[in-house]
Amino acid sequence: MSDKRIIKIFDTTLRDGEQSPGASMNLEEKLKVAQALIDLGVDIIEAGFPIASPGDFEAVRSIASTFSGATICGLARCAEADIDRAWEALQDNPDPRIHVFLATSAIHRQFKLKMTPDEIVDRSVAGVRRAASYGADVEFSPEDAARTEIDFLCRVVEAVIDAGATTVNIPDTVGYATPAHMGGVIHSLMNRVPNIDKAVISIHCHNDLGLAVANSLAAVQAGAGQIECTINGIGERAGNCALEEVVMAMRTRGDFYSCDTRINSRKLVPTSQLISSITGMHVQRNKAIVGKNAFAHEAGIHQDGMLKERTTYEIMRPEDVGLEKTDLVLGKHSGRAALADRALTLGYHLNHDQIKIVFEQFKKLADEKKEVYDGDIVALIERELFGTTNQEWSLVDYQLISECGGPQKIDIALRRGEEEVKGSAESRKGPVEAAFNAIREALSLEMECVEFDAKSMSGGEDASVDMTFQINHKGEIYRGRGISLNMVEAAIIAIVNAANRAILHERVVTSGTGAAQTRSTI
Ligand code: KIV
Ligand code: ZN
Repeated sequence: MSDKRIIKIFDTTLRDGEQSPGASMNLEEKLKVAQALIDLGVDIIEAGFPIASPGDFEAVRSIASTFSGATICGLARCAEADIDRAWEALQDNPDPRIHVFLATSAIHRQFKLKMTPDEIVDRSVAGVRRAASYGADVEFSPEDAARTEIDFLCRVVEAVIDAGATTVNIPDTVGYATPAHMGGVIHSLMNRVPNIDKAVISIHCHNDLGLAVANSLAAVQAGAGQIECTINGIGERAGNCALEEVVMAMRTRGDFYSCDTRINSRKLVPTSQLISSITGMHVQRNKAIVGKNAFAHEAGIHQDGMLKERTTYEIMRPEDVGLEKTDLVLGKHSGRAALADRALTLGYHLNHDQIKIVFEQFKKLADEKKEVYDGDIVALIERELFGTTNQEWSLVDYQLISECGGPQKIDIALRRGEEEVKGSAESRKGPVEAAFNAIREALSLEMECVEFDAKSMSGGEDASVDMTFQINHKGEIYRGRGISLNMVEAAIIAIVNAANRAILHERVVTSGTGAAQTRSTI
């Protein structure tokens, strides 16, 4: 039997990750991510910050009432209303956790909270007690712990453990720590807090100096038993500790750390791809573990070594992180079972009816393309199953007249239920600007383009194109995504998708009901 310590993985992609600019997700997307995190084997899912918005509340409530197999957690400030709202969202889950936090550093005490150290301790204890009174598992975070005086931090940690916190998380909120510093903080807590054995010490590092993974590993070496992290390291500013990196560091260097996690590492790449396709935040090619080049060997000397003995230049096997040797999987002779199996590997749990729909479209595509890659399958599923509903605008038709050096003229027709609208525009700058202006005219919607991004979903010149568009409508940013074999069509779908989100949000806010999807902020 292995004598390795098992470190808990607390995933905060849906809370801290979702706070990063442009990464907000709707309810359907959050449910997809939660399912992928369960499949990945995380121990705790921080599903959101229920008091932050009706959208956040609804997301935490839906995830808590749909999923078991991991602890489901909701964030709350040390305030009665926050804690009560968190419990309201979590109460249907068999394994709920309330995560309460209050800043402890001198800077935050003096300038943000205007509270004395005694008041901080009292408020922290009261928050933990209230959360515990619901029977939930309680985690406490002294925000900005890495910049808190160590004596005061020890005092707060002891008090919240006495009050009933079973996990105490130590955040480096502003990404200021270094590995030796972070290891020292955890070491001091382990040695100086008398009741420390009654709680799991957790670590939560931000990546402002690019040290989040290194700091988390140093904390584990000093005795932390839980790591808070996000898929692809998304999160506030420079992001959080990247789950895939910290997990593979402990697994690959188990000889050094004597630690492991319950993560099914073969799901790392599919989960990373799911998050990047949902948020539109693409992973850099040279990103550790999940980047396109992470296992690509270009230099001749390396290739020669690899052919003689793989371990000369490779410390992990690509298949162990879920990177298939080739993603060319299906063709026109492939059957329904093979498609369903491939979809599952890519993170989509499809029911019988959904497979039927996707399979019909797959056969058409396989006739057109011959070689169907993973990216094409993702594109098909996203378009057929998670496309627009009857309540939203969708593309009916467009005509583009494009001339080299001349104007690009476009006519676009959109439909919502029985309603149909048309818009026309021309631009000397390109078809995307023309399409944007035509859609703005068709929908009479005040919107500006913030940025857009295009990515091919597989290899080959006939690959599907994945377009992400961010628009600004009345000061709020909305993201839309469009996938098509045709680049202009992908752009139109993405712009219309972003416009739909803006219209839906405005409708919900104006009526004052329902689950408006706004970003949670602390
Ligand atoms: O970075 C931070 O301090 C946080 C806390 C709410 C845990 O995200
Ligand atoms: Zn954070």
